[in-house]
Amino acid sequence: MKTTIWNKFPDLEKELEQVQSIITDEIQVPEANFEQGIEQLVTGNGKMLRAALVLISGHFGKVTVDRQKLLKAAASIEVIHLASLVHDDVIDQSDLRRGESTLNSQFGQREAIYLGDYLFTKYFEMLLDYAPSFDNLRYNVESMKDVLFGELAQDVSKFDLDRSEQDYFDSIQGKTAELFKVAMGDGAILSQADQSTIQVAEKIGLNFGMAFQIRDDLLDFEPDVETEKPTLHDASEGVYTLPVIEALKTADAPQLKKILKKDQLDKADLKQIVEIVSDSGGMKAARQIYDQYLDDAFHLIAKLPQSESTAILKTIISELFQSSK
Ligand code: IPE
Ligand code: MG
Repeated sequence: MKTTIWNKFPDLEKELEQVQSIITDEIQVPEANFEQGIEQLVTGNGKMLRAALVLISGHFGKVTVDRQKLLKAAASIEVIHLASLVHDDVIDQSDLRRGESTLNSQFGQREAIYLGDYLFTKYFEMLLDYAPSFDNLRYNVESMKDVLFGELAQDVSKFDLDRSEQDYFDSIQGKTAELFKVAMGDGAILSQADQSTIQVAEKIGLNFGMAFQIRDDLLDFEPDVETEKPTLHDASEGVYTLPVIEALKTADAPQLKKILKKDQLDKADLKQIVEIVSDSGGMKAARQIYDQYLDDAFHLIAKLPQSESTAILKTIISELFQSSK
C-alpha cells in the first residue's frame, strides 16, 4: 500500500492489501497494456477510503460474518470509485491523477471510456458474488443511478450563475456522498447489523461524504502547493461550488458575476475571484456548512456502541480533515 493513512491500523491495512489483490486478480482485459494501466491505477496512490469504510462498518454487526465476502464488497466499491475517476478524467481531459498519468493520457479518450465502462461492469459482476439478496443488489444498482444523476446535474448546472445551494447539495450528495453511504451501508448489511445500525451507518457515510466533497471544493480555492497559485479549476470550468454560491448571495455578487460571465478567465480574473469569494465571506460560509456535516458525522458515530471500529472511523475522519481546519 502506497498510502500511509492506514499505517496506524495494521489489521485494516492488511485487509486493504487483500482488497487490492482481489481487484488485480479480477481485472482481466484482452490487451496487456490496458490491463497494466488499470492495475497501476488500483495499486497507485489512491487512499482506498471507500473500501476501508466497507471493512470498518463490516464490524458493526456480527463478528462471525464471512470476511471474504466483505473483502469482495470492499473491492467492488473501490472498483466503481475507480470507474468514476476514469470517466471523470476523460470528461475533464486531465492528464494527471494522484500524480500519475491518467488512462486517457496513456491510451486516448475513447479507450479510457471503454476501460471505465469495463470497470463499471466489473463492479456489478463482483456484486453478484457477494450480494446477500436481490434487495441488496437493487440497493447498489439504485445508488449508482444517484451517482450518475449527481454528475449529470452538475454538468447541466455549469455556468449557471443562479445555481442554488440546494442544487449543489443534491448534486454532491449524488456524485460523492452516495458512494460513501453505500460503502457504509454494505458493510453494515453484510455483517448483519440491525436495521437501526444500518441506517446510522448510512447516515455517517452520507455526512462524511458531503463534508469530503465540500472540502475538495474548498481546496480548489487554496493555493496549489507546487505552483503556489490557486487552482480554481472548478470555477474556470463553470462549476460553481459552495464558496462561489455563498459569495453570490452577498453584496459582492454583481462584481463576482461580472468576472464569471467573461468568456475566458485570465490569471488576474482568477486572483480576483479568489479575493471576492474570500472577502465576501463565501469561504467562511462554506466552511461553516462543512463543519456542520462533520459534526453530524461525529454525533452519529457517538450513537453507535463504541468499539475499535468506531474509534478508527473517528481517527481517519479527523486526520483526513485536519489540514483544512
Ligand atoms: C476523489 O476521491 C474524488 C472525489 C470525490 C473528490 P478520493 O480523494 O477519495 O480519490 P483517491 O481514490 O484517494 O484518489
Ligand atoms: Mg472532476
